[in-house]
Amino acid sequence: MLDLLITNATLPDGRTGMSVAVQAGRIAEVTAGLTAPAAETIDAGGQLLSPPFCDPHFHMDATLSYGLPRVNESGTLLEGIALWGELKPTLTADAMIERALTYCDWAVAKGLLAIRSHVDTSDASMLPVQALLEVKKRVAPYIDLQLVAFPQDGVLRTQGGVDSLKRALAMGVDIVGGIPHFERTMSEGAASVKLLCEIAAQQGKLVDMHCDETDDPMSRHIETLAFEAQRLGLQGRVNGSHCTSMHSMDNYYVSKLIPLIAESGVSVIANPLINITLQGRHDTYPKRRGMTRVPELMAAGVNVAFGHDCVMDPWYGMGSADMLEVAHMGLHVAQMTSQAGIKACFDAVTVNAAKVMHLQGYGIEPGCDASFVLLQARDKIEAIRLRANRLKVWKRGKLLVQTPEVTPTFIHPIARPVKASNSSGFP
Ligand code: FE2
Repeated sequence: MLDLLITNATLPDGRTGMSVAVQAGRIAEVTAGLTAPAAETIDAGGQLLSPPFCDPHFHMDATLSYGLPRVNESGTLLEGIALWGELKPTLTADAMIERALTYCDWAVAKGLLAIRSHVDTSDASMLPVQALLEVKKRVAPYIDLQLVAFPQDGVLRTQGGVDSLKRALAMGVDIVGGIPHFERTMSEGAASVKLLCEIAAQQGKLVDMHCDETDDPMSRHIETLAFEAQRLGLQGRVNGSHCTSMHSMDNYYVSKLIPLIAESGVSVIANPLINITLQGRHDTYPKRRGMTRVPELMAAGVNVAFGHDCVMDPWYGMGSADMLEVAHMGLHVAQMTSQAGIKACFDAVTVNAAKVMHLQGYGIEPGCDASFVLLQARDKIEAIRLRANRLKVWKRGKLLVQTPEVTPTFIHPIARPVKASNSSGFP
C-alpha cells in the first residue's frame, strides 16, 4: 500500500489529470489517472503540483533585522553595507538564530524548501557562521539550507579576510563566495576572483560570488569569473550572483561576454526585487532598472535563476519568503511577458534554482524526493499572476503545512451572482 496518492494534479510541464504515488518519502510513480490503495489519498482538483520553490540567493544572517539599529535612509547598497557594519557589533548568536528560524517558518509556509544563504565571514568572531550552521542543523528536516562563505567587506580588503573565509569552510560552510566589485581596485577584484576560485578548486567546493553588483558598466568581474571557471575545470560549479553591471554594459562587449559565460558553464542569479530597488540610485531620469540581461542569457543557454536576496534587513524592508513574488517582479523588470517568458520565470524559482544549487532528487518524477507544493492555481502562469496560495506543502512525503483555499465571499453581489471557486482565477 502506498503512503500517499495525489490524484488529478496538473504538473508544471502542463500534463493534467496526473496521479503522483508516494512511498517511503520518494515518488514511486507518476501516471495519468492512477488509482491504488494508499494510506492517504488527496484529490488535487486539477490544481498545480510543483516541486518546492528554491531560493538560490539569500542572506539569512541579516534577515528580519530591519530597523536595527536604524533604517536605510538613502536606500542604497552602500548605506546598507555600512548599516550592516553598525549592526554587527551588537549581534548575538541567539537573536540571529531566532530571526533565521522565524524566517524558515515563513519559508515553509510558502513552499520554499531549499535556500542558499550567504553568511558574512568578514568578522573574525565567526558569530554569523556559528549561528547559521546551527540553523542549518535545526531546519534540516524541512529545508535544504546551503551556506556560502561571504566576505562582505572584501576578502582582500579585510585584514585576515582569506583566513576567516578558510576557517568558515573548515567549520562546515559549503560554498566559496566573494565580492570582487567591493575590493579596493578592479585589479584587486580580479585577483580575489582568481584566489577564491583556486581555493574552491583545491577543496572541491562550489563557487557563488556576488559579482558586479553595481551600475558601473566597466565592472567586468563576470568575465574573470567565467575565465577562471574554465581554466580550473569548474564548469557547472560556479555561479555569478547579481551581475547588474551587465545591464549598463555596451552591447558590443556583451555580444562577446554572454557566449563566454555560456561556454564556461557559469550560471547567473538575478535578484529582481533587490536589483530594481538598489540599482540606478545615482541616476536622475531615465532611471536604469539595473537587473542583469535575463532573457538574453537564457536564450544563450545560460542557466539563470532568481533569488530573494533580502527580506526585512538593512538593504530591503519588504519581502515574505514568497518566491512567486520574486518571479512576478522578475518578469516585469525583464519584460518577459510572453507565455514562454512567464513560464521561464516560474522555472527561475524552481528547476533552474535547483540546478544552481546542485539539489539531488528534485522534481516530480519517479525516484525523486516526494517534496512538493500544491498551489491554488491551474498552471505556472496563474501561479505567478496570483502569487498563488500554497494549499499543501510536503517534504519527503510528510505534510508540513496546509492553508485553506482562499475564496472570497461576496456579501453584496454586484451585478450578477458570483461563482467563487478555485477555477475562477480569483486572487
Ligand atoms: Fe546578496
